[in-house]
Amino acid sequence: MPKRKSKSEIRERLIAAARRTMKNAYAPYSSFHVGAAVLTTKDEVFVGCNVENASYGMTNCAERTAIFSAVAQAGPKMEIRAIAIANSQDAPCSPCGACRQVIYEFGPKALVFFRAEKGWKELPIADLLPEGFRLK
Ligand code: THU
Repeated sequence: MPKRKSKSEIRERLIAAARRTMKNAYAPYSSFHVGAAVLTTKDEVFVGCNVENASYGMTNCAERTAIFSAVAQAGPKMEIRAIAIANSQDAPCSPCGACRQVIYEFGPKALVFFRAEKGWKELPIADLLPEGFRLK
């Protein structure tokens, strides 16, 4: 049985994957390149970047790109254990409200690693999105 990874191993692995992926961002309008990496409860990693559009509202954040890719590849039962978000400016960048709800859908107990004012921060999604919506 492979050893269950420690929180710091998960953090380093996901931040490295998010940083690699932000280089693929399509962000000609904001020049803000974002990468995200999702770790599933089956120990698989899926990545995504932001994809902007001339019709600005069509933009997809890195977090949702990564989660939708995870569903497309691992299937609808995919569960998020943790997600990291990196950006090219090392600017504070916690997930937007829409992405918080999408993270919550697939990982109500997920741990979120993101850049805050004073460097990296980690918080459970339930702290970032209290009373997240569930249709059950
Ligand atoms: N963006 C993300 O991809 N994730 C976030 O957590 C915050 C914002 C993107 C959307 C847009 O392409 C650019 O960053 C500027 O808002």
